[in-house]
Amino acid sequence: MKILSFAGSNSRNSINKAFVSYVTSQFSNDSLLLDLNDFELPIYGIDYEKENGIPEKVSEFYDALSQADVVFIGLSEHNGTYTAVFKNLFDWLSRKELKFLQGKKVILCATAPGPRGGRGVMDAALVRFPIHGAELIGSFCLPKFNENFQNGQIVESEQKALFDVFIAQVKAQIG
Ligand SMILES: Cc1cc2nc3c(=O)[nH]c(=O)nc-3n(C[C@H](O)[C@H](O)[C@H](O)COP(=O)(O)O)c2cc1C
Repeated sequence: MKILSFAGSNSRNSINKAFVSYVTSQFSNDSLLLDLNDFELPIYGIDYEKENGIPEKVSEFYDALSQADVVFIGLSEHNGTYTAVFKNLFDWLSRKELKFLQGKKVILCATAPGPRGGRGVMDAALVRFPIHGAELIGSFCLPKFNENFQNGQIVESEQKALFDVFIAQVKAQIG
């Protein structure tokens, strides 16, 4: 089973990249972690699309999704929803194919320094991703990243217990 993972961030120090990497490390499968900085795109606009078509980088990202069996996404939150870089990629992918998630099993995680742990962006994604072809398998928000995640792991016992349940539930569904 091939896992593809990425964070919805262009921060070189993305906490969601660190977190989604930790989540995928719980699975002993063949896994590829992409960085959105390697998929730099123009801001989506209908006029740009009419004049230039869909950028090659969008097709590259779409092909990476095609080759995966399971997709893990670390959702970074800006102002209660997707970051601009992720929403832009999302818009471009939806122009390539509305159901760009192609029926893949998708696991969503989010974290933030604050107490809601990316709950706003998670709620947006839980409603929207199935419309784009995701089979949602599980989701997890980790609040207060800086306190709860240290030296590459969850150090707060209540969050760790919730996380272990989440991982067990995902494992039961993806084998
Ligand atoms: C423009 C901006 C808006 C933000 N809005 C939120 C927010 O609504 N909720 C939140 O919990 N954190 C918010 N933050 C803090 C981010 O969660 C924090 O920067 C986090 O590191 C972003 O994830 P990343 O490191 O994976 O890019 C915001 C940060 C920025 C720069």
